[in-house]
Amino acid sequence: MEKHYAVIGDPIEHSLSPGMHTAGYESLGIDAEYQRFHVKPSHLAEAVEGLCALGFSGWNVTLPHKEKIISLMDSLTPEALRAGAVNTVKLYEGQRIGHNTDGDGFVRSIEESLNGFKGKKAVLLGAGGASKGIALALAAQGMQIHILNRTPEKAKLLVELIKQWGGTATSGVFAPGDWLEDVDLLVQTTSVGLLGEPFPFTVQGISDQALVVDIIFKPGDTFFLHDAKKQGCRTMNGLGMLLYQGAYAWEFWLGGQAPVERMRQALKDQLLQRMFYKA
Ligand SMILES: NC(=O)c1ccc[n+]([C@@H]2O[C@H](COP(=O)([O-])OP(=O)(O)OC[C@H]3O[C@@H](n4cnc5c(N)ncnc54)[C@H](OP(=O)(O)O)[C@@H]3O)[C@@H](O)[C@H]2O)c1
Repeated sequence: MEKHYAVIGDPIEHSLSPGMHTAGYESLGIDAEYQRFHVKPSHLAEAVEGLCALGFSGWNVTLPHKEKIISLMDSLTPEALRAGAVNTVKLYEGQRIGHNTDGDGFVRSIEESLNGFKGKKAVLLGAGGASKGIALALAAQGMQIHILNRTPEKAKLLVELIKQWGGTATSGVFAPGDWLEDVDLLVQTTSVGLLGEPFPFTVQGISDQALVVDIIFKPGDTFFLHDAKKQGCRTMNGLGMLLYQGAYAWEFWLGGQAPVERMRQALKDQLLQRMFYKA
């Protein structure tokens, strides 16, 4: 193999990235491989040294390493600086360049459905790592951001961060409210629903013009998306975000255009296989 890529995380068995990237290499005849490595937090620095020593061209980074790996980079792209997190590393002339494709991957996944960002209102449920990347990327597109989180202090901290980057943001109570009436984009970024559990409140009364996204990526609707569909909203799950963060990582490493449709199919096949395997 000419080029070697990987994803590191803890846990890592669930990652769909190896299948997605490998399908992409095969479809374009690229001589590369993509592996997954289980790296515990206490071994992160050694793992990074090892990947460099073994001649890897780049790697993806997932939980819980996205913030800790920053101190091991030689430089950061503006996207990684903005997110305060790295999900993609490229080795270039011996230098470790930390990049982040999560936020822009989300933006790309909704841009056709939202039809313009500037001045529109986005409400984000949750203020964790995923919400932060998405909120900063949407604010950079000129959207007004409203953050609702179970722990209000974390929503307030995220609002301050968005403002520091020149965005417009407010926070509120993690409950239905007036915000439902004029929201253009509603994004569910909490982990509620991952195990099939119901969302704590309904979005009854939401504008039927809103685009509603649940970034959980599993086949079938979460309770949250099912509820939004009942209110007449257009809905989307997190598969698009996962796909485009991977496609942007590919393009950062290899240049050119990633084979997005082939990668999307590989993601869908893996998710269906998992559902079938569990049944
Ligand atoms: N589609 C994609 O590509 C993609 C990418 C990244 C993540 N994700 C998904 O996004 C979700 C969140 O990931 P993350 O990295 O942001 O996690 P995280 O940093 O741990 O944040 C978790 C968020 O969920 C909230 N939360 C957890 N349990 C809750 C409950 N019972 N009720 C209300 N709120 C609750 C937390 O609120 P508190 O602050 O109050 O604890 C926090 O806002 C996961 O399901 C993950 O699979 C998808």
